[in-house]
Amino acid sequence: MSEAGFEKVAAIDDVPDSMPFSVQLTSGEDICLVKVNGEIFAFEDRCTHAEFPMSDGELVDDYIIECGLHGAQFDVRTGEAVELPATEELVTYEVKLQGGDVWLRVEG
Ligand code: FES
Repeated sequence: MSEAGFEKVAAIDDVPDSMPFSVQLTSGEDICLVKVNGEIFAFEDRCTHAEFPMSDGELVDDYIIECGLHGAQFDVRTGEAVELPATEELVTYEVKLQGGDVWLRVEG
């Protein structure tokens, strides 16, 4: 389902606190959601180091997710790589919470 450039990917209540949660866009793109302090962040579910799923990693600090394969860390708010071996940032998605659901900007 899409609405003005956004696509609904999950119910807010289905996303656990401070644990990565995997969803998929209708395009087939895998996305990792993270809920921290009631806010939800979204980024590609593929480490920029060697493409391991970020949703198989874990939050090691409020806003820092660690890849489960080689330990690269990223800031979930910006996608920035903050720990080697990754140097490239994750692509992030704008999130809108509406009607009890999580929407991601997929166009525009
Ligand atoms: S695949 Fe993530 S750190 Fe290597």
